Amino acid sequence: MKRIMVTGANGQIGVELVVHLRKLYGAENVLATARRLVPGPVGEGGPFQLLDVRDGAAFSGILGSFRADTVIHLAGILSAKGESDPVSSWDINVNGTCAALEAARAHGAAFFLPSSIAAFGPSTPARNTPQDTIQRPTTIYGVAKVSLELLCDYYHKRFGLDTRGLRFPGLISYEALPGGGTTDYAVHIYYDAVKKGSYTSFIAPGTCMDMMYMPDALDAVVQLMEADPARLVHRNAFNVSAMSFEPEQIAASIRKVMPGFAMDYDVDPLRQSIAESWPDSLDCSAAREEWGFAPKYDLDRMTEDMLSRLKNKI
Ligand code: SER
Repeated sequence: MKRIMVTGANGQIGVELVVHLRKLYGAENVLATARRLVPGPVGEGGPFQLLDVRDGAAFSGILGSFRADTVIHLAGILSAKGESDPVSSWDINVNGTCAALEAARAHGAAFFLPSSIAAFGPSTPARNTPQDTIQRPTTIYGVAKVSLELLCDYYHKRFGLDTRGLRFPGLISYEALPGGGTTDYAVHIYYDAVKKGSYTSFIAPGTCMDMMYMPDALDAVVQLMEADPARLVHRNAFNVSAMSFEPEQIAASIRKVMPGFAMDYDVDPLRQSIAESWPDSLDCSAAREEWGFAPKYDLDRMTEDMLSRLKNKI
């Protein structure tokens, strides 16, 4: 990667990835794009363009004039929010990615798309979920993600486009909140621990999901995009996860730092049913073997960092 265009730059991943990439590759070489200009480092720390990713002509024009060699396409609608308007979720997630792929093809740019644990469904083996397995998701977000994994592989095979992707688990971070996902409880719990000393979980006890701390997610994107293509057996998309826990385990980890922390439950039926349709723990051996995936943060190390960062922030 030398010149990189990032879409969805104001989202939970984008706000941190843009800053991270600008440090690694030079601010002038990382173009952030989003539907709105928000005050802060994304819009002010380097090149920025307004873009609705469904506008294929605008996408291609911006990519071409920036002379990007890589597109990191983050713009999208998450799982729970997607269920409130499935048609628009499909439009943004799928038609937006079709426009992005065509722009990348026109300019010969490498292409990164985040997939998700949402690309799996209730018939997927839930424990140690293999890299290659049954994928019959039941959310519109998951249906889009499977379609796009296949479409990205197709663009590689048919047009030789250098497409690569990661199946992200729930991502936990302190810079920007996730917008309407099922794994969001594992972010909200830290904010409420710092603000109130207690949290009411919308996910039920005993529900395990894969998670990863944002610094490991940022490293994974860079490592995958810089990986030697000759080593990649898979492309779209690699299982990646750093930990798997249920609500009581994250609460117990917080209590090691804040012994008085209390948690109760008010389960949201929609997000609970989505969580139950996803794996409990992913097998990430393909990512380790093909490009050296090695996350640094486990649950307790992440908890210590999250709580101290949020105490400074809030
Ligand atoms: N974190 C996402 C969500 O919950 C999964 O990709 O929707």
